[in-house]
Amino acid sequence: MEIVIGKASARRRRIVLFPMPFQGHITPMLQLANILHTQGFKITIIHTEYNSPNYSNYPRFTFKSISDDFSEVVKQFPEAGLDLSYYLRYLNKTCVDPFRNCLAELLADEEKVSCMITDAGFYFTQAVADALKIPRLVLQTNSLACIVACDIILSLSTFPKGQVTFKLTYIGTHIHSSILYFMFYIYRIEPKLTDSVDHEARVMEFPPLKVKDVGKGTIDHKGMGELMINTRNQMKASSGIIWNTFKELEESALETICQGYRIPNFTLGPFHKYSTASSSSLIEQDRNILSWLDTQAPKSVIYVSFGSITCITDSEFQEVAHGLANTGLPFLWVVRPGMVRGSEWFESLPEKFLESVGDKGRIVKWSPQPKVLAHPATGCFWTHTGWNSTLESICEGVPMVCSPCMADQTDKCKMCVQRLEYWRFFWRTGLKGLGSRMRSKE
Ligand code: UDX
Repeated sequence: MEIVIGKASARRRRIVLFPMPFQGHITPMLQLANILHTQGFKITIIHTEYNSPNYSNYPRFTFKSISDDFSEVVKQFPEAGLDLSYYLRYLNKTCVDPFRNCLAELLADEEKVSCMITDAGFYFTQAVADALKIPRLVLQTNSLACIVACDIILSLSTFPKGQVTFKLTYIGTHIHSSILYFMFYIYRIEPKLTDSVDHEARVMEFPPLKVKDVGKGTIDHKGMGELMINTRNQMKASSGIIWNTFKELEESALETICQGYRIPNFTLGPFHKYSTASSSSLIEQDRNILSWLDTQAPKSVIYVSFGSITCITDSEFQEVAHGLANTGLPFLWVVRPGMVRGSEWFESLPEKFLESVGDKGRIVKWSPQPKVLAHPATGCFWTHTGWNSTLESICEGVPMVCSPCMADQTDKCKMCVQRLEYWRFFWRTGLKGLGSRMRSKE
């Protein structure tokens, strides 16, 4: 579906946007805001104090901060062993009053607010929108394919009766004591495939996935399960969904979504190709690395980054290091401070490793990733398959080595590796020769 926004009617109308306070969510929301601004809309961004965007990069937007205690709460992640959904559900509870008050104040202004666009993960905002009688559009920062896969995992309707059973495992009692004292019981629901199922068969609703891929999904019904169900229900209750993807890339998933979500679906991505936004980076990017890339041979450098929230163990970290050293190829590796559990930065790497690599390998805290991927020296991207990274890589035609770490990343990795969705697209278009490069490596 195409969206056509008339500049004349858009003029003077304001749109209020509310991103989730994480890099992978703030970036596409600000990119969307830029796109809407170029169409004549005025933009107000409501944001949490935690991970506040840099206002000076967006002088034409109005920013409203709402108070939260999230900086303290998030310090427990991931050492506290709580899954990410805990924090997202926490935000959905604690942001209700500050967000509603902020929005009500804005609506009391004389200026007309057309609608609000909130991150799909902020499911509580639909009730606020209904109460204040303002349309809510949703920005889904994930891929269409991932949401289809989530829906399949949730409903499991895809399995004929008797071919799937559920195992409810009591995992333990968790006492959480940071701000409030409370206790909850953790169960895991595991869909178990019986032997009669053809594990290799394609999932009827979404053929890129095999039955065994869906069967592997586990959801904690009080955690990720609750988050996924609330997100899905409130997306369906919204006035429409904006996707940071494009039809040619995810055609079959779009068809499935349009059948299941009978509201307008707008595939307006990839945003970063339409938005000339200044950086929305929350961490300072090391731009010196671009001149080092200038000195490298074309398509020779392995770029490694696992995004903004993934953490890995020290043994995984050492594995990556040795894997890179063994290739003998130059590499640029983003090691975020705190990314390796139990380390501040990369101090656990042996001196011998650093000496052997010399100037062939560079480690930085944070890179200007879109520029790195667009650089002629970059030949491969070793990624955790976050959706922004995946899109950025696809658009530059950089082949990916996928190491999904958590949440939605496994589904996207599957899509990339099986090439049923993504590579088929490149075979058709031959964008930057990726198709032939991938074919020759088969
Ligand atoms: C998270 C989830 O992990 C992801 O699966 C989901 O789709 C969105 O939210 P994140 O893990 O941070 O996001 O990954 P990703 O979606 O790839 O976003 C990372 C962003 O940070 C990208 O836009 C990337 O360009 C940027 N980045 C990354 C940098 O600017 N510099 C870096 O060094 C690394």
